[in-house]
Amino acid sequence: MRWKFVSENADFVLENPDKTSYLYFPLVNEAGMMSSITPTLNGDLKSGQNSFLLLPVSAEDLHNTKSTRNFWIYINKKDVWSISGNSPMQLANFYSDKKDDVTLEAGFLWHKIIRKNKVLGVKAEIINFVPVEHKVEIMEVTITNTSNQVMQITPTAAIPIYGRSADNLRDHRHVTSLLHRIRTNDYGVLVKPTLSFDERGHKINNVLYSVLGFEENGEKPIGFLPEVEEFIGEGGSFETPEAIFSNKKFAKSGNYFEGYEAIGAIRFKDIDLKPNESKTYIILMSISEDELENNILLEKFGSKEKVKNALEENKKYWENKISNPEFKTSDDEFNKWMKWINIQPILRRLFGNSFLPHHDYGRGGRGWRDLWQDLLALLMMEPDNVRKLLYNNYAGVRIDGSNATIIGSNPGEFIADRNNIARMWMDHGAWPFLTTKLYIDLTGDLNFLLESQTYFKDRLANRCTDFDPNWTIEKGNKLKTRDNKIHSSSILEHILIQHLTPFFNVGMHNNIKLEGADWNDGLDMARNNGESVAFTALYGWNLLELAKLLKSLKIEELEITEEILMLLDNKVDYNSPEEKNKLLNEYYNKVKSFVSGNKTKIKIDYLISDLERKGNWIVNHIRKNEWIRNNEGYEWFNGYYDDHGNIVEGDNPKGVRMTLTGQVFTIMGNIATNDQVEKILLSAKKYLKDEKVGGYRLNTNFHEVKLDLGRLFGFAFGHKENGAMFSHMAVMFSNALYKRGFVEDGFDVINTLYNHIKNFEVSRIYPGIPEYINEKGRGMYHYLTGSASWLLLTVLTEMFGVKGDLGDLLLEPKLLDKQFDCKGIASVKTLFADRTFNIIYSNKNRLNYGKYNISSVSLNGRKIESEILGNKIKIKRSLLESLDKDKIHELIIELE
Ligand code: G1P
Repeated sequence: MRWKFVSENADFVLENPDKTSYLYFPLVNEAGMMSSITPTLNGDLKSGQNSFLLLPVSAEDLHNTKSTRNFWIYINKKDVWSISGNSPMQLANFYSDKKDDVTLEAGFLWHKIIRKNKVLGVKAEIINFVPVEHKVEIMEVTITNTSNQVMQITPTAAIPIYGRSADNLRDHRHVTSLLHRIRTNDYGVLVKPTLSFDERGHKINNVLYSVLGFEENGEKPIGFLPEVEEFIGEGGSFETPEAIFSNKKFAKSGNYFEGYEAIGAIRFKDIDLKPNESKTYIILMSISEDELENNILLEKFGSKEKVKNALEENKKYWENKISNPEFKTSDDEFNKWMKWINIQPILRRLFGNSFLPHHDYGRGGRGWRDLWQDLLALLMMEPDNVRKLLYNNYAGVRIDGSNATIIGSNPGEFIADRNNIARMWMDHGAWPFLTTKLYIDLTGDLNFLLESQTYFKDRLANRCTDFDPNWTIEKGNKLKTRDNKIHSSSILEHILIQHLTPFFNVGMHNNIKLEGADWNDGLDMARNNGESVAFTALYGWNLLELAKLLKSLKIEELEITEEILMLLDNKVDYNSPEEKNKLLNEYYNKVKSFVSGNKTKIKIDYLISDLERKGNWIVNHIRKNEWIRNNEGYEWFNGYYDDHGNIVEGDNPKGVRMTLTGQVFTIMGNIATNDQVEKILLSAKKYLKDEKVGGYRLNTNFHEVKLDLGRLFGFAFGHKENGAMFSHMAVMFSNALYKRGFVEDGFDVINTLYNHIKNFEVSRIYPGIPEYINEKGRGMYHYLTGSASWLLLTVLTEMFGVKGDLGDLLLEPKLLDKQFDCKGIASVKTLFADRTFNIIYSNKNRLNYGKYNISSVSLNGRKIESEILGNKIKIKRSLLESLDKDKIHELIIELE
């Protein structure tokens, strides 16, 4: 049992999907409609935290609640059948050979279930999708008589309308139903609560929830039963609704009810279906602020024909969205699987981190880290608007190097945390530079660094360890000067400050403090003495990379905010944590409430050498002090110190302790020598790799609820941040290995993970990459994960080696022999310099990586002269920019 791709577009089919728990599929659009749907039509539908049309669900509710999409058929006034499998008869037969046959088909972005009952001779095909422009989910139900006799059916749609905020699920569930004002019109049931209910203040509600239904030709339904109580009857339930089993009479349109739980129960007229005859019904589930929207929906989607066209348009829309990059290797399944990776960063942008069944936390936003991570993918897929987004995001940086953590819904909007929760993630400052560097490499837009941007300001100060007594909400969220002017400075300065303050913010072992946590949100209990060597490594690498980048910036001097100058000071002894902390405190005091507003000029060469000095200091420090060897003779880098200031990794009476994170950034950032990378690999294979979970675990089992390091040690081992195969870190591990030329090992990380996911009997998820694989091998938190961006990045820029180099195209393939097809071809269609290229590597002798070099390159059939350096070639941007924007250009790279 497993899913299979059935089309070039990576549509897939899965037999008996109802025999797997926790499956869900996302349906969504840019207009703000978000839906999740399961093989039994469970899942929910909402446009935000405060506007759920269907009952909000967590993963466990997917098998618990029956309060979801349904459509009943009463056959020959005798048998009751549910298209979601929810009738007592279907449930009772679930383990017998009388079970319904269920098949799932799905694609970008539509979901279809085919359910057949042989005994009754009936089949239902249910297609769900969310069209691009409207806050509506369309459900098309086609019933077919598969028996050899005429069948009379009484069809009834039954979609419970929750119609309020997710917060009211437990908080005043009943009282909020008293707010419900329910009406029926000719097509369905409309619920508009009077107020949006919140103990902090009640507001007039403007949101209207509608469930409308009609027949295939647009014919209206014949009746409605909008109160749940009436629909289920006394003692009934959504599995045994009295209205269906006793074939209750439904009310006419134009009725009004108030104060009850509502349901879009819509009765269609009885019909006789001849053998093989079908009938289609369409249900629209909409959330709007204007009742006229329903007229527009009926006009636009009001018949089977119109829905068919809308579905085709929708498919095209999504296929176009994910059309770049498109990979072709010898493994056709892998190529198609990558399409499902392409869509994931978009899904996370649209769903935030909160709105799929596993993601039952938060209120819809994304975090700072995710903001930058998602831009990585956007740079590869839709680079057009990225400059603006990047620019806006820098407005979230505080002058102390920390950043706003509450991100508004408009670009560049950052909000002060009203609860004043002071939490500092020490890794946050490192990600913007990585994304910005990728942007500059892809575009050559070095001037971006010199754009002027404001700083964020709120009550939090000193990297969230103190409050600014002078700040009040009225002062606004922008840093001001002493004379109350909004202060701004270059993007480059923002990046500098994000690296300079952590450089001085070290613990007793002279690594950067762990503060509230690093990338691993679960390492949140070592604020005083914890240190993250792992991210010290990343900051160190960034400092050196930034220095390199500045060498290409053709300016002699840079104007910077006067106060920052002290952090570029040479007099501090970098080997002394005390001196570093002292300097940082002096800086904090100067910028706590405002800055002077004075700017000073520094020589760019001075800046470069200062960054190099700091970066190199980190490299040497980690190499010298953090390389460990345990009793079994294995060696690797220690990644952390706990809140008692004790080293975390190495031998321990409870078992060997090792983390993957500690290795990833030391490898990626060139801190590990080649010899050390080999040793790390041996150790990681010994202590972290486990085929059972699809690859390298995040850590070994500490066998301790380690209160001096983080909450994650309270999680069961092998789950989430405690020792699961956590895709994001695993993929970054692969990226680091590729970067360092350990191509076989880099490939192996991705390949092991991919093969695990493909093994549906164990992974139990649809195509794509989940946040992590749990101890049983199940894929968890599917779809919304930063690992998708990193996977895309790694496959494109490392595996296929399509990189930018300050705007020029740099190709450096790291494909293995087995990845080329039988003709020796592997290719990728991708965007670069605003043009689409089909980059074809031709390796006729199917040589392995390391054995081939680039011998020649042709562009659109013509050989081009370019710098070839072994396995690398650089193609000038000017040449690419001279090409037609509307064509696909072919670059053939011969490998010999
Ligand atoms: C999630 C968060 C990410 C965090 C990670 C580890 O990862 O989104 O910010 O760093 O957990 O705690 P994701 O689901 O994006 O892979």
